[in-house]
Amino acid sequence: MTPPLDIPALVSALTLEEKAALLDGADFWRTQGIDRLGIPSVMVTDGPHGLRKQAGASDHAGLHDSVPATCFPPAAGLASTWDPALLERIGQALGRECRAEEVAVLLGPGINMKRSPLCGRNFEYFSEDPKLAGELGTALVNGIQSQGVGTSLKHFAANNQETDRMTISADVDERTLREIYLPAFERVVTGAQPWTVMSSYNKINGTYASEDRWLLTDVLRDEWGYEGLVVSDWGAVNRRDLAVHAGLDLEMPSSGGGGTRVILDAVAAGTLDEKDVDLAVTRVLELLNRVLPALAPGQTFDADAHHALAREAAAASAVLLKNDDAILPLATTGGPVAVIGEFARTPRFQGAGSSQVNPTRVDDALSSLTAALQRDVVFAPGFSPDAADPALVAGAVALAASSEVVVLFLGLPSSYESEGYDRDHMNLPADQIALLEAVADANPNVVVVLSNGSAVTVSGWEHRAKAVLEGWLLGQAGGSATADLLTGAANPAGKLAETIPVRFEDNPAIGNFPGESGHVRYGEGLLIGYRWYDAHALPVSYPFGHGLSYTSFAYSDLSASGEGVTLTVTNTGSVAGAEVVQVYVTDPVASVYRPEQELRGFARVFLEPGESATVTVALDRRAFAYWHPALRRWTVEGGEFGIRVGASSRDIRLSATITLEGDDVTPPLTSSSTADEFLAHPQAGEWLKERIGGFGAMLFDPQHGQMMRAIPLVRLSRFPGSPLSESDIDEAVARFH
Ligand code: BGC
Repeated sequence: MTPPLDIPALVSALTLEEKAALLDGADFWRTQGIDRLGIPSVMVTDGPHGLRKQAGASDHAGLHDSVPATCFPPAAGLASTWDPALLERIGQALGRECRAEEVAVLLGPGINMKRSPLCGRNFEYFSEDPKLAGELGTALVNGIQSQGVGTSLKHFAANNQETDRMTISADVDERTLREIYLPAFERVVTGAQPWTVMSSYNKINGTYASEDRWLLTDVLRDEWGYEGLVVSDWGAVNRRDLAVHAGLDLEMPSSGGGGTRVILDAVAAGTLDEKDVDLAVTRVLELLNRVLPALAPGQTFDADAHHALAREAAAASAVLLKNDDAILPLATTGGPVAVIGEFARTPRFQGAGSSQVNPTRVDDALSSLTAALQRDVVFAPGFSPDAADPALVAGAVALAASSEVVVLFLGLPSSYESEGYDRDHMNLPADQIALLEAVADANPNVVVVLSNGSAVTVSGWEHRAKAVLEGWLLGQAGGSATADLLTGAANPAGKLAETIPVRFEDNPAIGNFPGESGHVRYGEGLLIGYRWYDAHALPVSYPFGHGLSYTSFAYSDLSASGEGVTLTVTNTGSVAGAEVVQVYVTDPVASVYRPEQELRGFARVFLEPGESATVTVALDRRAFAYWHPALRRWTVEGGEFGIRVGASSRDIRLSATITLEGDDVTPPLTSSSTADEFLAHPQAGEWLKERIGGFGAMLFDPQHGQMMRAIPLVRLSRFPGSPLSESDIDEAVARFH
């Protein structure tokens, strides 16, 4: 094995021009090499749920061909597994494929929050909940990096829409950033140390993420202890000199020398410190030392084994939303089964854009169902993705009428959702709903299988189906996995990683998406996803965390403390299956607004019929904390907390109350603090009571006191007859703050 690069020696041997050049890409996918000093160039490439290595022409929009690679389910599917162990295994497989193609860094995972159901890239993102996204992202990164291949945690940060994605300013208050938009990144950084983090295109509160030193250095490195390299999203650099200073090490793709010139000019002008350049160069060289050991020609991967893993992952990703009359699983024998819908024959299994993989093979559900069932399986396309077709509907209805059961494949045409633009609505195409109506009129035994990368509303049509299997986009083995689920060869265990609202208009970002005049206001604050639907007591079609199984589970024997919960879960049905136990924390009394409940832990348990298991979910102090806006730190406010354990956010089976010691949350006093705030301060309160003299009657009057105590003390001191002067208050602030 070649010895690692001697980084300090190289940094002193490189000329300033060479150092600046090293901070720019060599082309679309490769880093710069410096032959003179033996610094190699390496390849980074998309990601995230499969490898998109372009051997010929390059682009970042999924236009040109890439080498065949296993297409695992995109994140929208994987998130519904709630299964970090599975994601780690998928990560290992992705790492092996990267090694076989001599790819140094896989550009993923994308872990941005699903703020609006309309975000065009929701299929590439995990969840509306930071805990779930953070745990799954950590597992995937650990899996990939275990193979000696790097990852790129993206898109850092607050990149929650595609509209104007390269310029929009996400205007978000700090508490919301800290509690909702940053924690998944923080979790992956502290739990897996991704070798690269990708800074996003957008601005945050007016500053480009690529130029945001608070984000890229203060928070990422100084607070979270990040040790890797920061790379720009492709074309995300605005001012290269500001980006270097902020902590953005590598610009991708190649700026054609433009970025290099800006760096050199800024160093010459004295506006950029050469030390900042050296630091970024050091990080590029450190990345090389991490990736080089795994880069060798002639490595292979087992495409069959990876396809089998993709099938297992797809089966775990689908969510059984409803199953009336236990219409599923389909019996292996019986009358004819009508399979209707083009997606059964021509699956939609991934989204469009930079993540688009050229699969090693593709399973379709129609062939797999035909092979699995010893009953007649008849097919009608029912619709064409492009236009309504009455002849296709008539054919489907005829087939439905003469069959025992109908499996109807509906979903979003690929043009509906893509990187680069957002959706306009959450509906299935109207002609598909009309097809369902017509088919259900002919035969009420309808099972709907959905293919969609982002959530669709179901409230207008789901009553016409006895079962609905939400398949998301399931990757290249989605067809066979769907057949496994429909026939009971696999038992559904997926749970929703996002809420399905009754109406699009109910969603939290309504009125604040996708923004205007270059700004999008995160007006819902903390209330993303279920936090919003809970706060407004809104009915939903299917809540966050929901998902049915062919068996049932009982929860018992909860014990809870600040360190975690323990309970017993029993499989009370007749088939083996997995259950995802969810732990939500509530903080009913607090001095700041707290969401009704927040997911703080989960565990997946597989049980044979009749089997019980003890399930433990650890909680740490952060599970109870909020970001104190004035103290600007994580704070646990002492007192009672509720622990809710359930099968979904709205199917709570057990609950407990615990009491925790709190941190000191006394806010720093200023002269504008109210009389109440002074009184709440242990020493300042005593001081004020002593000094208040004749104003005491007013301040403590049973009826008017509350109004008076809400007045900033400095204003009160200006009232006629005040016993306090402004300088008294300044002195008190200096003494007691
Ligand atoms: C996307 C990234 C991707 C990069 C390279 C960008 O447009 O936002 O997710 O990794 O292109 O293709």
